[in-house]
Amino acid sequence: MTMQEMPSQAAYPPSAEMSARAHVDATGYAEMYATSINDPEAFWGKEGLRLEWMTPYTKVKNTSFEPGNIDIRWFEDGTLNVAANCIDRHLETRGDQTAIIWEPDDPTKEDAKHITYRELHGSVCKMANVLKDLGVSKGDRVIIYLPMIPEAAYAMLACARIGAIHSIVFAGFSPDALGARINGCGAKVVITADFAPRGGRETPLKANTDAALAQCEDDVKCLVVKRTGSETAWTERDYDYNALSEQASADCTAEEMNAEDPLFILYTSGSTGQPKGVVHTTGGYLVYASMTHEYVFDYHDGDIFWCTADVGWVTGHSYIVYGPLANGATTIMFEGVPTYPDAGRFWEVCAKHKVNQFYTAPTAIRALMGAGNEWVTKHDLSDLRILGSVGEPINPEAWNWYHEVVGQGRCPIVDTFWQTETGGHMLTPLPGATTLKPGAAQQPFFGVKPVVLEPTSGEVIEGKGIEGVLCIGDSWPGQMRTVWGDHERFEKTYFSDYKGYYFSGDGCRVDEDGDFWITGRVDDVINVSGHRMGTAEVESALVAHAKVAESAVVGYPHDVKGQGIYAYVTLMNGEEPSDALRKELEVWVRTEIGPIAKPDLIQWAPGLPKTRSGKIMRRILRKIAEDDFGALGDTSTLADPSVVDDLIANRMNRK
Ligand code: PRX
Repeated sequence: MTMQEMPSQAAYPPSAEMSARAHVDATGYAEMYATSINDPEAFWGKEGLRLEWMTPYTKVKNTSFEPGNIDIRWFEDGTLNVAANCIDRHLETRGDQTAIIWEPDDPTKEDAKHITYRELHGSVCKMANVLKDLGVSKGDRVIIYLPMIPEAAYAMLACARIGAIHSIVFAGFSPDALGARINGCGAKVVITADFAPRGGRETPLKANTDAALAQCEDDVKCLVVKRTGSETAWTERDYDYNALSEQASADCTAEEMNAEDPLFILYTSGSTGQPKGVVHTTGGYLVYASMTHEYVFDYHDGDIFWCTADVGWVTGHSYIVYGPLANGATTIMFEGVPTYPDAGRFWEVCAKHKVNQFYTAPTAIRALMGAGNEWVTKHDLSDLRILGSVGEPINPEAWNWYHEVVGQGRCPIVDTFWQTETGGHMLTPLPGATTLKPGAAQQPFFGVKPVVLEPTSGEVIEGKGIEGVLCIGDSWPGQMRTVWGDHERFEKTYFSDYKGYYFSGDGCRVDEDGDFWITGRVDDVINVSGHRMGTAEVESALVAHAKVAESAVVGYPHDVKGQGIYAYVTLMNGEEPSDALRKELEVWVRTEIGPIAKPDLIQWAPGLPKTRSGKIMRRILRKIAEDDFGALGDTSTLADPSVVDDLIANRMNRK
């Protein structure tokens, strides 16, 4: 969005009732925020006590954004265990409370399961013992490639319990993508399931894992959870989780971990190269996940919390598992999709489990909005108190529908801006404190110091009514610590464009009230249905096809997905474009990366617009993909300006 396109600013102040019951009102926010910035040591020193430490920390913050010395440590001399914090310490007070409500893909075939904290403890200990028996110990990596079933949470927490580092690969990723991640982090074990039911279809996870493991060392073991019970091939490296866990002990001592020991690696796309392994550590991450969960969703004891994400994304890590369980919440794990068996599925689940906080992505809201209000209104949503949005900017139309139809005008919407790298929310309204503006991420969370820079000069732009790139001026506890195995890449990606700052990769605007509006990525990352995709990744998948000579991928506005994937493809000499080849390339990318990377539009490009030095001018390709070629700007530096005319004449997106 440009500044001119910004909607007129409707504003929704918090109700008196909401401000009164919320953890903070506007004054409370201002005071707490000031303390968090002026005295981070004292602020986080106190917040760290929300966890149970085995050895209390004496140092709180030791962080440097200095070029050549990017070093981030929080609570560095403290020790703790994440699983003990998410489970054991609740046993005395809430052992019989439901920790996880699992909701299956197809409610007509299976019932929801309610898992208490005590049951969770037993299952996690069993899984931990099974992993130990497979030879996994502290510091080892374990890949989790599972459907949204309770075992996914058991696996995460079992790794945390024994100090192994988990890396979840979204079950929609292809065998190649899985194989690259197994090798990338040198995993000892892959935990998978026979099949993953989703939206009435089944993904053959075990078969995918077998294909991935064909690219890996022979000694990687595979632990298989039975989900559907349908038949799968069985190899020498496979272990039957259901059989092993039955015999395993339900007791397992929680390993004492340093606050800075890695908790997980999560691969995410960037503007260049292959996905990078974002590393989060133990203490700071959990403090931050717990605190943001409590304040942003105004979580109170006894609330039923539902984040519809998948644990394959960071949102699922922080707001299905770690944040809610650290706070002793009841969290919902949903295996399905918003539109199966019908477009009322989300609202049926909200009504059935009396959900208080509901957190989803704009793409889901847009899809459901189109299905008609009756799917929402026929369910009793009177328990809903807070609504959340994440993953991409939410357009005002979707915001208004969410607010009026789902929230019945009663529930504040927290539009949370954050990233895999940030571990938790960075800019967000707080329910009892913020006057909401549809489409704005609004205010920094405690301890977050946003700085807006002029993109080219890198100079700080102060004040209100400004626009630039969004950086963060100082560390916060949930920040990623490094790229797995490549600290240099960490520095280069996030700290080298603007020295002394963490660079988010997003643009933003600050309005006259000082509220932040995210304007989207300023790099070659596109946001498809709230999922990040590096254009370089899709391009390298396309050029790996024998008939493709060259390709350039850009994003374009898409009504439901936010952004769609637009691929310009130049074929090898002698190859003819055809619809069959287009289909073949779509299937090819699905197989190379996964369904989320499938191009929405493929345009045959006899040539790509390049400068004389051979650099592809993506600005021009973006404009053509947006069907906005009236404003192409200067094309005189192109080696062959005539290619642009051909691309315009054959453009695929016509508004
Ligand atoms: O561009 C921003 C967008 O999603 C990117 C981060 O993607 P990922 O690491 O996959 O994490 C998604 C879930 C935390 C950001 O750089 N983004 C995320 N939330 C918002 C957003 N853009 C606008 N508004 C948001 N609320």
